[in-house]
Amino acid sequence: MNQQRQGCLITVEGIEGAGKSSHIEHLRERLTEAGKSVVVTREPGGTTLGEEIRGLLLSHREGGMDADAELLLIFAARAEHLERVIRPALAAGQWVVCDRFTEASYAYQGAGRGMGMDRVGVLEEWLQGAFRPDLTLLFDLPVEIGMGRIAKRADQGGGDIDRFEQEHLSFWERVRGGYLELARRHPDRFRLIDAAPPIEAVRAQVDEAVTAWLKDL
Ligand code: TMP
Repeated sequence: MNQQRQGCLITVEGIEGAGKSSHIEHLRERLTEAGKSVVVTREPGGTTLGEEIRGLLLSHREGGMDADAELLLIFAARAEHLERVIRPALAAGQWVVCDRFTEASYAYQGAGRGMGMDRVGVLEEWLQGAFRPDLTLLFDLPVEIGMGRIAKRADQGGGDIDRFEQEHLSFWERVRGGYLELARRHPDRFRLIDAAPPIEAVRAQVDEAVTAWLKDL
């Protein structure tokens, strides 16, 4: 565990259609059962300003959005989130489960948008210094399966397709590749979860990974 803080930061990542939301709820229950005080939050978002920025990022706009502007907006939301929510919670001994964090910027902007991992690294260093998640659960699945789940959700009236979700297959392949590259680079803090099987099987993997990690803390 990071010495300067009392709680732990667990982040949850993956391409669209990985079923993150239900697994986050399950994770909250597991950690609460283990006696932790848990805060669940998300990026972009998690604060009033952050949620406003999220609205700007996800909404469709004619002519799209400049990639630098997108990345800087995401880090602006993150600055607010870190200072007002994440760091105070960790300092108070709470456990923070965050639906996406800086690793998403590496995958989506660095790899997906082709901006390069180094560019994201500069902002990460600037904002976070040595601050990193204690554990990142990466829900991985083939892009075709993820896209199929998104299309099914939209067909069933479960929400509109946002500005990221409308991207092409090649974008998603780059995002997935970016995530897998990060997991290879940081095996100490990444746990890879196969998100392709039915939900119960994925949940069992989450339980196994988190239980083993908690034991080693
Ligand atoms: P969500 O729908 O999983 O909450 O994520 C919102 C979108 O924001 C998702 O399509 C990924 C994107 N995103 C980035 O592109 N970069 C980031 O750093 C983060 C946190 C999210």
